[in-house]
Order: sequence, then structure tokens, then C-alpha cells
Amino acid sequence: MANEAHYSVLLKESIDALVVDVDAVYVDGTFGRGGHSREILKRLSDKGRLVAFDKDPEAVAIGRQLEEEDARFSIRHNSFAAIDQELQEKVAGVFLDLGVSSPQLDQAQRGFSFMKDGPLDMRMNNQDGVTAAQWIAEAKQEDIAFALKEYGEERFAKRIAGAIVEHRELKPIETTLQLAKIVTDANPRWEKGKNPATRAFQGIRIQINSELDDLMVALDTSLQSLLPLGRLVVISFHSLEDRIVKRFFRDKSRGKEFPIGVPVTEAMLEKELKIIGKPIKASEAELEENIRSRSAVLRVAERLG
Ligand SMILES: C[S@@+](CC[C@H](N)C(=O)[O-])C[C@H]1O[C@@H](n2cnc3c(N)ncnc32)[C@H](O)[C@@H]1O
Repeated sequence: MANEAHYSVLLKESIDALVVDVDAVYVDGTFGRGGHSREILKRLSDKGRLVAFDKDPEAVAIGRQLEEEDARFSIRHNSFAAIDQELQEKVAGVFLDLGVSSPQLDQAQRGFSFMKDGPLDMRMNNQDGVTAAQWIAEAKQEDIAFALKEYGEERFAKRIAGAIVEHRELKPIETTLQLAKIVTDANPRWEKGKNPATRAFQGIRIQINSELDDLMVALDTSLQSLLPLGRLVVISFHSLEDRIVKRFFRDKSRGKEFPIGVPVTEAMLEKELKIIGKPIKASEAELEENIRSRSAVLRVAERLG
């Protein structure tokens, strides 16, 4: 099992916002290497408990070690979208640190990186589901273009999808660098400071792991799992994720909509969330230590009772 160094983004800021009652039960939906989980456990009393989730078997194996060390902790090998099915009780806080972990990106054999040659896998749960290579071999050209455009925000999605389909007819696309070259060669305008394969890889990764669907479900189920005054704390890493979180917080803090002219009382709005503070970004000091935190945005909301 790999145990690479992993930097936990916005660690203090996120856990300060999450832990409001040291005796309560919390959820870390994205255990990773457990940096945030360990910080939560540090803050909790002997009565407090933490239930963590991860799709990745390697992350879960590290979580199992932590279960041995700390009786207040348990881990589930499941998507955070299943929080409500796994929990028997309401909780005081749900934390999500979205996306892939540094170890996932850094290990060539996981197939997430366009910089390292490895099998084109990209599954967070690499024991189940369709790999990126299998999906690319069989997906319709328009579905590939859709993933590149909608999940990767790639302007040249159609052209790149066309190149992928042309190449796969000659030879199966089975490795990360093979795909990176096809994408790079088909990309007519490279963005400054960005590898030309960045957007395509993001799009395919989100498709393979149904990341945005999971996030939408998880926000709803987390809200239903929260006690009054419980906190929902989310770190996102790209504009698609952040837009989903921002809209969810906005809609649930505004409450129900009524036609103009209808007299509305506060109670009729049935607001479910209160937004706490402004979105937080990594400090200069954190950016110096960890460049991956540059795109992180932390949002916090509180369950209304
Ligand atoms: C950015 S890392 C979390 C790092 C962690 N906070 C730490 O300090 O080590 C994201 C983790 O969430 C996991 N993950 C992503 N989407 C998930 C989902 N829908 N359900 C469960 N785990 C997920 C990934 O496998 C990865 O391990």
C-alpha cells in the first residue's frame, strides 16, 4: 500500500468551521489519507465520533488502521452519496474535500495523470466499474465530446473526441500517455500555463467516477442527515463543483419560491440552511507550501432547525 505524503488543504479553516460540538457525531465523506479526519478526532472529546467514507480501497485500508488506533473512528467503503443509507443517526457536521487525492494523482498505475505513463484506469474505486480505457473504447463520439465539454470545459471537445475515435479504430487506447498525446495533438490552441490534456483528463475522470452526480446527491442527503445547527463544510477544486455547492447553499438558504405579490412570512419560506461567512481560499503561506491548494474554495453552511 502506498503511503505517500499528502497535504490536507485548508485544514485548520475547514475543521474550525465544522466542529461546533466536541461530543457529537461527524462525517468525513472523503477520507483520502485521513488528514482532515485526524484533525477532527483531535478536536473531539471521548464521547465524540467520526464516520468516514471513501470509494478508494487504498484510502479505506489506511482508514482501517485508524479504526484500530481510535475507537471513536469508523470507515465505510462507499460513496459519500450513500451517507444517509450508512448512518443510523443524525450528525453535527458533514465534511467533503472533493476530487482526487495527491496519492491517486501521483501513482502512475491509477491512471489519473497525463504526466505519468500508466494504464488508463481513473477509477477511484479500482475494484469496481468501467475503466477509462474501457469507456473510451466503447463510448459514442458524441458522449466523449459531451464529457470533454461539460465536465472538462474543453472548447475543442468535438475535435478532440473525433481524434480519439479515429485513433481507437487503429489501435486500442490503453495508457495515459497514449491518450495525452492524442489530445495534445488534436488541441489547436494551448492555454498558457496549462497542459493541453488537463481539461480532457478532468472531463473523463468526472465521467468515470460520476463525480458531479454523486456531489448533487450527497449535498441533499447530507442536509437531511444534519441536526439543527449542524455544519455542512465543502472544499471544491474546480468551477463545476463549486457552482453546484454555491447554488445548493443559495437555494436552501433562500427557501421556497412564491409568485410575486403573494404575501410571504419567514416560516412559509422553510429555509433549510444559513450560509456562514464568505468562501475561503488558501492563504499565501499555504500556497507556498502546496501549489495544489490554489484552486480550492471552502464553503460553509449551517442547518436551520
Ligand atoms: C482530496 S481527497 C481527500 C483528502 C483528505 N481530506 C485528506 O486530508 O487526506 C478526496 C478523496 O475523496 C475520495 N472520493 C471522491 N469522491 C468520492 C465519493 N463520491 N465518495 C467517497 N469518496 C470519494 C477520493 O477517493 C479521495 O480519496
